[in-house]
Amino acid sequence: MDRRGPRALGFAAALLAAAGAALAAGGPVVLRAERWLAPDADKVAFLTRQPVECLALPADPQARLSVEIGRAAFRSPTLLGGQAARSGVACETCHRNGRTNRDFHFPGVSGPPGTADVTSSLFSTHRGDDIFNPKPIPDLGGPKAGLRIDQDRKAAALEPFIHGLVTQEFDGAEPPPAVLKGLADYVRALSPAACPRAAEAPIRAGDLVDDAHRALDAARTLAARGDRPGADAMIQAARARLFLLDERYADPALAPDRARLRETDQALLALREAARAGAPDTDRGLADAAAGLTPLKAALVRHEGRSLFDAGRLTAVFEGRLPRRPS
Ligand code: HEC
Repeated sequence: MDRRGPRALGFAAALLAAAGAALAAGGPVVLRAERWLAPDADKVAFLTRQPVECLALPADPQARLSVEIGRAAFRSPTLLGGQAARSGVACETCHRNGRTNRDFHFPGVSGPPGTADVTSSLFSTHRGDDIFNPKPIPDLGGPKAGLRIDQDRKAAALEPFIHGLVTQEFDGAEPPPAVLKGLADYVRALSPAACPRAAEAPIRAGDLVDDAHRALDAARTLAARGDRPGADAMIQAARARLFLLDERYADPALAPDRARLRETDQALLALREAARAGAPDTDRGLADAAAGLTPLKAALVRHEGRSLFDAGRLTAVFEGRLPRRPS
């Protein structure tokens, strides 16, 4: 049933409502993902566990690269523009690990938890249709027959659909062609046949570092091909992973880890410039940054128990037994 909804409040009011909800829940958020969490959801479970990814990586190197590019972009808020990017929303926000998100709730965008109106003017200046029409977020790792958009390459339906999502719905800039193709190839490579046995898995620091590493590998290949915007998008995707690590290593005792994360991020920021300019030392810089992730990962994994990846610590923060932020 279509009806006019909270969006009629307008953009600023919806944001205020979001801020108000966060305050009512006990102050500003500790982790960004709380912003799109349904109030009644199990917060600690949501922030420490996620559905498993059902990804069949192709054996062919070119096909695999395209899936890797899409996988990184899928997790990168900068792919999306405007309000979504500012809030840190990426494809994976709604499609967690390529799946669904039963606890998703964003004021002005969601009806019941797990739904979103992807024609909502909150995220878009183009497509807002003034009709509040939230739909359940589909599981992209579910049976293809249950999905609406034909993923067959010959149908050529998936790329235009994703292009519309990025540029119209989320107000993103025109994605580099390799990124658009990658997103479609990533979605195609999701399949129930590739689902691990468990339904859920813990969210781990090491996996986020691995994601950043994979994105930088893709950046190197794209830079070597002369695809500067594509390489830039992959560096941004790696930086987005570092952000998610940084916010969890909040304990004052973990200051050295945070400092290393920030140094790496600064190096990647400089490498964006190099990649965009096609500077000859870009590959060396990306290789060094990627190599630096290995010792960084070891340190982060060693200290994970003191970080907010640990469910016990996160619970203590929410219950006020530990400070929300380092002083
Ligand atoms: C705010 C939440 C949200 C975000 C962010 C989001 N989606 Fe979705 N997505 C949805 C919802 C809800 C639908 C179902 C829409 C419908 O049925 O009309 C959907 C549908 C889809 C479909 C079609 C599934 C089918 O039935 O065939 C694909 C593919 C998809 N999204 C991919 C993406 C990609 C790629 C991104 C990032 C560029 C993205 N989504 C970002 C919520 C989201």
